Amino acid sequence: MAKRDFLSLLDFTPEELSQLVERARVLKQNFRGDSIDRPLNGRTAAMLFQLNSTRTRVAFEAGMSQLGGHAISLNSEDTQLGRGEPISDMAKVLSEMVDIVIVRTIKHTDVIEFAQAASIPVINAMTSLFHPCQLLADVQTFEELRGPIQGKTVAFIGDGYNMCHSYINAAKQWGFNLKIASPEGYRPDPQILASTNNVTLVETAEEAAADADLLVTDVWSSMGHEGQEMDRRMTFASFQVDEALLDHAKKDTIFMHCLPAKRGEEVNDTVLDDPRCAVWQEAGNRLHSQKALLEFLLAR
Ligand code: CP
Repeated sequence: MAKRDFLSLLDFTPEELSQLVERARVLKQNFRGDSIDRPLNGRTAAMLFQLNSTRTRVAFEAGMSQLGGHAISLNSEDTQLGRGEPISDMAKVLSEMVDIVIVRTIKHTDVIEFAQAASIPVINAMTSLFHPCQLLADVQTFEELRGPIQGKTVAFIGDGYNMCHSYINAAKQWGFNLKIASPEGYRPDPQILASTNNVTLVETAEEAAADADLLVTDVWSSMGHEGQEMDRRMTFASFQVDEALLDHAKKDTIFMHCLPAKRGEEVNDTVLDDPRCAVWQEAGNRLHSQKALLEFLLAR
């Protein structure tokens, strides 16, 4: 059977994505329970992280261990990549030694190059273009709290970067309506935007939030934007999420953020403590959804 990669949500069918969310629900139910299910016994993952990570890395490492496998964590400086070994050579070598590779890097083309050279599955653990693993957890969290996301209205407020792009792909795959409010110059990639017809760009955060079932934001200066923080703070000032903005949304709206959050920038000091905020459940679901993904790619 041909190997599968998970570089963007568009690599899987809507049915496969729903299957992952359902499997994550079951794995969560069994978490810390007595049932011992070790489908990845003897399997190894290599995790190649060129950028910082807490949630993604811990979820994959703990997930491999809980499923009976093992994960090796690599920083690019520790490997020969840091001394100029080509990505494609690294991909071929790791393919001889482990069962799956999980890659976080700024350049999306690096992950594509890695996956093309590898003979084993490759997971995108975040690039400047997409963060598909986060969306598995976000959809799981929404559906746990409010039922199917299909047909619902989601507001993305802030930087039209990797999380926003992943929400555009998710709108297409799960069939929800997405409203995006970003400052001029920070709107999502027009090509990604053009790939689906259920996304609308609006001018203000309040317009996006109006009647939203789910409201999402992300940091104003993602990894790779170092040195732009001051400018971005000014440009994004009217896009901060606070309790008053949530009041524009549906009464039972949910607020999510992939974390880490910068209080005083994209969120005020208190909104993460608001009862409408689901960020801790969302973060926890990274574990269960990534376990479902590992199982799907490795137990085939
Ligand atoms: N949300 C997210 O990907 O968190 P980390 O950067 O900590 O992995």
